[in-house]
Amino acid sequence: MANVTVIGAQWGDEGKGKVVDWLASRADIVVRFQGGHNAGHTLVVGNQTYKLSLLPSGLVRGKMGVIGNGVVVDPVALLAEMDRVRAQGLNVSPDNLRIADNAPLILPLHAALDRAREAARGERKIGTTGRGIGPAYEDKVARRAIRMCDLAEPQTLSDKLDELLLHHNTLLRGLGADTFEKQQLLDDLLALAPRILPHVEQVWVRLDEARRAGQRILFEGAQAVMLDVDHGTYPFVTSSNTIAATAASGSGMPPSAVGFVLGIAKAYCTRVGSGPFPTELTDEIGRKLGERGHEFGTVTGRPRRCGWFDAAMVHQAVKVGGITGLALTKLDVLDGMPELKICTGYELGGQTLRFLPAAPGAQAAAKPIFETVEGWSGSTRGARSWADLPAQAIKYVRRIEELVEAPVTLLSTSPERDDTILMRDPFEG
Ligand code: IMP
Repeated sequence: MANVTVIGAQWGDEGKGKVVDWLASRADIVVRFQGGHNAGHTLVVGNQTYKLSLLPSGLVRGKMGVIGNGVVVDPVALLAEMDRVRAQGLNVSPDNLRIADNAPLILPLHAALDRAREAARGERKIGTTGRGIGPAYEDKVARRAIRMCDLAEPQTLSDKLDELLLHHNTLLRGLGADTFEKQQLLDDLLALAPRILPHVEQVWVRLDEARRAGQRILFEGAQAVMLDVDHGTYPFVTSSNTIAATAASGSGMPPSAVGFVLGIAKAYCTRVGSGPFPTELTDEIGRKLGERGHEFGTVTGRPRRCGWFDAAMVHQAVKVGGITGLALTKLDVLDGMPELKICTGYELGGQTLRFLPAAPGAQAAAKPIFETVEGWSGSTRGARSWADLPAQAIKYVRRIEELVEAPVTLLSTSPERDDTILMRDPFEG
């Protein structure tokens, strides 16, 4: 019996929420291992729509949810999200939500610094979610972060705030932004601590026990491989490692616990924020994809940039992300398009490249090499078996499998949970 790790194979927003929800119903524990409330997962269950940013999706299915040490947690956002889903009828308590004692906190000063830096970057801005993700990870690596366990030690909190404020107020002042007062931050943290601390523990111990007891663990990734701080389109990336290996380091589990890695990819491609996007369509076709795919960010509401499926990029994501099989989503958005294009590589300075280079100049200059394939006139929407799909749609999926060197193990054909074609059960390994 394998565990399953779900990661995005493009630039995020691939429809992980639905796939994770579907898998969560068959798991015992669902674990978030990186990112923070920059993520946005939309789960449609019956007539309820849940928008989750920090809470592991398994909670919607009544499963144990764990927030691992690799996640940066804004406690105010976490409590607000807990209240919001409780108002929708979900049970969230220390019995079903556990939080790593060594997870770093995001404080209001992180969001302020994130936004002040973006403003200072002007045209060269990264297009962050403005939630303080980058500055919080910086503090973790710089060894000055306030962590969950510190909420239980007022003196530690006080000392750490001194160090943090020395650093952050200097930067904020330099950027012309408002600075922060220690007492207010301390009071706020001490006030929320009693609501958070009952959830806090050494989650790796629980996960180790669960694994030895043969329980099924689902690791729920956020963002995607092309936003990975090492392997993505740096500097237009998020500040965590989004690849499958992080499921282990971000939860305190051994690498062998990662199990089957399901990479989620849309049947076309989207991106929010700035940065290179070789297959981007700025024409009528791109606009149509955005409209039909309802391509607006869950967290920020920003319109997503749309383009053709980039098989070279997903191939790269399969390799560096450690993807075992792909879940292809939103195939129905392509229904009725007379012809489709798939990027098979890039042309740069007269050379053909199989993968996107690392240097920003080369990334911007790389021209996609397209293969044109015939579209289909029938509908794939709501298909629940391979036999329901038009022949050309099957051909499109098969071509993608060949190019990215990974099997499509799951196909999602509408936002509804049951409109899914399963070729191979990831939990069976
Ligand atoms: P940050 O994670 O807020 O620092 O943003 C860095 C980059 O990652 C920006 O381009 C964001 O738009 C992008 N990003 C962060 N989270 C998500 C997500 O959940 N989906 C898609 N893009 C994201």
